[in-house]
Amino acid sequence: MSAVVWEARAADEPAQSEETAADAAADATAGGECCEKGDTTPPLELIAKTPKGGLHNPYNDDVAAMEEEGHKKYLSYSCNGCHGGGGGGGMCPPLTNDAWVYGADDDTIFRLIALGSDELQKQGYKRVRKEVVVGPMPPFGGIAKTSDELWKVIAFIRAKNPDSMKRVNTPSQ
Ligand code: HEC
Repeated sequence: MSAVVWEARAADEPAQSEETAADAAADATAGGECCEKGDTTPPLELIAKTPKGGLHNPYNDDVAAMEEEGHKKYLSYSCNGCHGGGGGGGMCPPLTNDAWVYGADDDTIFRLIALGSDELQKQGYKRVRKEVVVGPMPPFGGIAKTSDELWKVIAFIRAKNPDSMKRVNTPSQ
């Protein structure tokens, strides 16, 4: 009998078999599905309460609509100083090509931007693609006040790199 119960749970939650009951409960309070448009949760808080692989950009249904607003935020955080004004690269990797250092999915990219490369690596992420890298990507999770702002910046990146939309929900780590 217990084997049957386990199978049913495993089918419901294939990627979360290692989760503790507390994590599962937190996930349930968050509605299970992350993330929402207009979310005022600070990025680092959202990361702390969302299991790996659980972050999804609420603007994916129409990234073009967020392109202009996202671009303004991108410039206001000075992302362009390293990645170029249109995301085409500069002294740091282009955001417009097909090579994604840690992966192209929303969850990985949100964590990279918020945590920076050093902390992301401390959390077990490895470089899976080679790009010309002069140093670590700095963390923006304390600079962006809300998760919504980061999702809009990511929507801008997607608008510039439509091909990457195919992989938004394909965690590579
Ligand atoms: C000081 C320079 C610098 C700034 C400012 C910066 N980045 Fe980066 N970024 C990097 C570096 C270096 C990497 C490669 C990281 C690595 O290999 O660990 C990177 C990687 C990335 C990647 C993954 C690119 C790929 O090809 O896989 C994304 C997405 C990204 N940055 C977005 C942003 C956004 C959005 C901002 C502004 C909020 C920003 N970056 C600001 C230096 C910077």
